[in-house]
Amino acid sequence: MRIAIIGAGGREHALKWKLEQDGHSAELIPYDPARNTSLTARDAQLVIVGPEAPLADGLVDALANTGVPAFGPSQAAAQLESSKAFAKAFMARHGIPTARFAVFDDLAQAERHLRQVDYPVVIKASGLAQGKGVIVPRDAGEAQAALRAIMAERIFGPAGDQVVIEERLEGPEISLMAFCDGETVVPMLPAQDHKRAFDGDQGPNTGGMGAFCPSPLMNREAVAHCLTHILQPAVRGMAQEGAPYRGVLYAGLMLTRDGPKVLEFNCRFGDPETQAVLPLLKTDLAEIALACIEGRLNAQPVEWHAGACACIVLTSGGYPGAYRRGLPIHGLDAVPDDVMIFHAGARRIEGGWITDGGRVLGVAARGESLGDALRRAYAGVARISFEGMHYRRDVGARWLQRD
Ligand code: AMP
Ligand code: GLY
Repeated sequence: MRIAIIGAGGREHALKWKLEQDGHSAELIPYDPARNTSLTARDAQLVIVGPEAPLADGLVDALANTGVPAFGPSQAAAQLESSKAFAKAFMARHGIPTARFAVFDDLAQAERHLRQVDYPVVIKASGLAQGKGVIVPRDAGEAQAALRAIMAERIFGPAGDQVVIEERLEGPEISLMAFCDGETVVPMLPAQDHKRAFDGDQGPNTGGMGAFCPSPLMNREAVAHCLTHILQPAVRGMAQEGAPYRGVLYAGLMLTRDGPKVLEFNCRFGDPETQAVLPLLKTDLAEIALACIEGRLNAQPVEWHAGACACIVLTSGGYPGAYRRGLPIHGLDAVPDDVMIFHAGARRIEGGWITDGGRVLGVAARGESLGDALRRAYAGVARISFEGMHYRRDVGARWLQRD
C-alpha cells in the first residue's frame, strides 16, 4: 500500500519504519495547511496524520471529502486535545477520573479562584501550545504570575484565551494509547515518557527525552481498569455527543493513591512513546488503521511482541532553549544492527547528516527485558556524536529493579 504520513518528526519516522517493516511504502509529508489535501489525495491510498495541528485544523475532515482514507480524529473529536477546557468538561460529564478543575476566560475571576482554593494547583492554557502550555507553580506567587503571563501577557497567544486551573496530583505518569474506531477501543502497551531535560527528572520540560515500553507500573489488570473507566467511557461519550472518535486516543495518566486519573488527552500518537511502542507491535499497522477508519476494529487482531523497547532521544546542546543547527552527525553507520535510528531534527546533506532541530535523533532497541532494551539502545547512543550532543543517561533506570 502507498501511505502518506503527515509530519516529519521522530514519531513520524517511527510510523514510516513500522509501515515499511509491514511491507508498505511510506512517505513523510511535512504539514502545510495550504497544500496537504490535494497532495495526499493524489498520491496515497492511506493517510496517517502524526501531529495534533493538522487534526485540530480539520485535515481528516477535508480528506474524507476527497475519498482518501485518513487515520486520525475529525476536527470535532480532536477537541479532546485542542481544548483542555472542552476535555475537562467532557470528562466531568462522563465521570472520567481527572483532577478537580475550573475554567476561566477572565483574569480577575481566575485570580479570585486561586485565592479561594485550598489545594496546590496547576495552571494550563486551554489551547494548543506545543506541549508548553502547562505551568506547575511552586507557590501562590508563581501561580498568580503564571495566570498573568498566560492571560494578560499572552505568552501562549490565543491558546491562553481560556485557562484551566486544576488540582495538582501526585504519582508516576504513564502514557496509555489506544486504537479507536468510533466504538471499539483496543489499548496499546503502556509506555513511559521522560519529559524533563536532565537526569533525575531535573530541569525544564521538553517534548520528551526518552521512552520505554511496556511500563512495569501497569499490568494487564491495570490496563483493563483504564480501558473500562477511562478509554471506553471517552469513546462512548464522544459518540453520544455526535463526534465519534476514530484514530489514536492517548491518555496521559497519573497513577495517584486514588487510582489512575487523566492529566490530558492527546488525539494522536505520542512522541517519543511511539518510537518505543511501535517496534513491539506485531500486527500490520496499516491494517489496524484501515479497520479503525472502516469501523471494524472489533474483528481486527492487534498483537504484540514479547519483551521491551526503549528509545533514547539525542538533543542539541541548549534544548529546550536556544541551540545551534547544521552540526555534522558522526557515527550513524557504526550503530549495531539491532538499533533503530529515528530521525527527528536531522537533515541529510551530501555525504551525511547534520543537526536541524532540538530533538535530533531517537535511538531505539528492543530487548528481552527493559534492562536488555536499554543496554542495546545505549550501546547505539555510544556510537553517535555531534557537537553539544545531550541525552539523558537514566531513561528507564528508576524502574529497572522491577524488571
Ligand atoms: P499535560 O501537557 O497536560 O500532560 O501537562 C504536562 C505535564 O505537567 C504533565 O506531564 C505533568 O507532569 C504535569 N501536570 C499536568 N497536569 C497536572 C496535574 N493536575 N497535577 C500534577 N502535574 C500535572
Ligand atoms: N510524549 C508526550 C506527547 O506526545 O504529547
